[in-house]
Amino acid sequence: MNVNVFGVDIGGSGIKGAPVDLEIGDLAEPRHKVLTPQPATPDEVADSVVEVVQHFGWAGPVGVTFPGVVTGSTVRTAANVDKSWVGVDAGRLLGDRLGGLPVTVLNDADAAGIAEMTFGAGRGRHGTVILLTLGTGIGSAVFVDGRLVPNTELGHLELKGHDAEKRASSKAREDEELSWEHWATRRLQRYMAHVEMLFSPELFIIGGGVSRKADRFLPYLDGIEAEIVPAELQNNAGIVGAAMAARAASSAG
Ligand code: BGC
Repeated sequence: MNVNVFGVDIGGSGIKGAPVDLEIGDLAEPRHKVLTPQPATPDEVADSVVEVVQHFGWAGPVGVTFPGVVTGSTVRTAANVDKSWVGVDAGRLLGDRLGGLPVTVLNDADAAGIAEMTFGAGRGRHGTVILLTLGTGIGSAVFVDGRLVPNTELGHLELKGHDAEKRASSKAREDEELSWEHWATRRLQRYMAHVEMLFSPELFIIGGGVSRKADRFLPYLDGIEAEIVPAELQNNAGIVGAAMAARAASSAG
């Protein structure tokens, strides 16, 4: 049986995708990536998604991540992409552009979380598990006994009068040229302590590109009760999670 489903990850800098082997939770072929058009408007991004999908001559279900709140398949917020996305039915737009292929759209951190809970660092973990993706923004995926609470948007908690992702994201570290220690102890630690105060998770999974450098900052986080581990699927978690969501939608519907 062919268990491959296509996954696409729409990010602030790149749009990447590949067929995913859902038996093993990994890419079935090397991914194809194009640069995110600037400005990242719905029409331009849709063209890029079509390019990525057609690169593989794909003609089955497609899962797509989006860096904002998505209910049904409609985009509700767009913190780090063009604001003209708000209110767009991304599932319909992309489905039309892809000649009627079934398209499932979900939040990028939720997709990464789904993949990590099944194939990565959250495998077999019960209780409350929170994945935080630290990148341009901060994304969150909250699981209770393996079940996702979608669109939690914990990156936009207020911290000392600021939007938390503006202080504690990986981009904030780079833009402000903070040392790993300064960023970890003053920014990330305070942010995670706040999230921990609200949810008392058993486990934090740290995702996003920075998870590859976990040894540079995890040792500084010593005031958090919960276990903290880096994500395991790293760059491909969004693609894998998108494909998983598309399969779940096609078997449900
Ligand atoms: C968005 C989230 C997204 C995160 C990571 C935030 O700014 O509001 O929806 O998951 O960035 O891309």
